[in-house]
Amino acid sequence: MTTLRLRPEGPADEPAVARVLAAAFARPDVATPPEVGLVEELRHSPAWIPELAMVAEYGGEVVAYALLTRVGVRTDDGRVWPALALGPVAVARHRQRLGHGTAAVQAALDAATELGERLVVVLGDPAYYRRFGFGPADRLGLTSPWSGLGEPWQALVLPPSASEEPPPPSGEVVFPPPWSRV
Ligand SMILES: CC(C)(COP(=O)(O)OP(=O)(O)OC[C@H]1O[C@@H](n2cnc3c(N)ncnc32)[C@H](O)[C@@H]1OP(=O)(O)O)[C@@H](O)C(=O)NCCC(=O)NCCS
Repeated sequence: MTTLRLRPEGPADEPAVARVLAAAFARPDVATPPEVGLVEELRHSPAWIPELAMVAEYGGEVVAYALLTRVGVRTDDGRVWPALALGPVAVARHRQRLGHGTAAVQAALDAATELGERLVVVLGDPAYYRRFGFGPADRLGLTSPWSGLGEPWQALVLPPSASEEPPPPSGEVVFPPPWSRV
């Protein structure tokens, strides 16, 4: 039986990841959607965490992708606290609505929890992201250039590795330069 295999991407996956992104985010007005360049730039930036670039492989083919990369939360006292941004999330067109996107995102979130990460933000449709536990980021006091969009600006607090760990702070979420592409 063919099963879905979830694993971090390797160098050999890069062309397949670009193909999945290009097809999933294809728009009539651009030859290559910005999400392709975003991932390439993030991959060569300090925001990249190799364990958190998750591919889903089905029958030897990369069919889905979910990426978590480093962002910072700047608190009122000027300190910057590490957090993660989710995205892009993409599924090959012929394999959409089969659970692959959900599986890839959940695998990336589980890997982040294993690494001791505590906070993930995302900009996307709440109807999709609420299944993972995401809720309005403004309720956690998190702002960003996208906060004005309202509901799509979401956050998820991951379980602590030790019960005495404090909750993540509120503040301004700072995205590294590659994000200015999207
Ligand atoms: C959005 C996307 C990642 C979902 O992955 P998927 O594997 O197709 O979806 P899954 O099978 O895991 O989940 C299906 C569920 O998601 C919902 N869903 C799928 N695409 C959705 C979307 N764009 N917005 C809201 N809900 C969506 C379906 O209605 C379905 O809901 P149900 O479980 O209540 O029936 C995928 O369709 C995709 O790559 N789309 C194009 C790129 C994109 O929009 N990426 C997300 C950017 S925020």
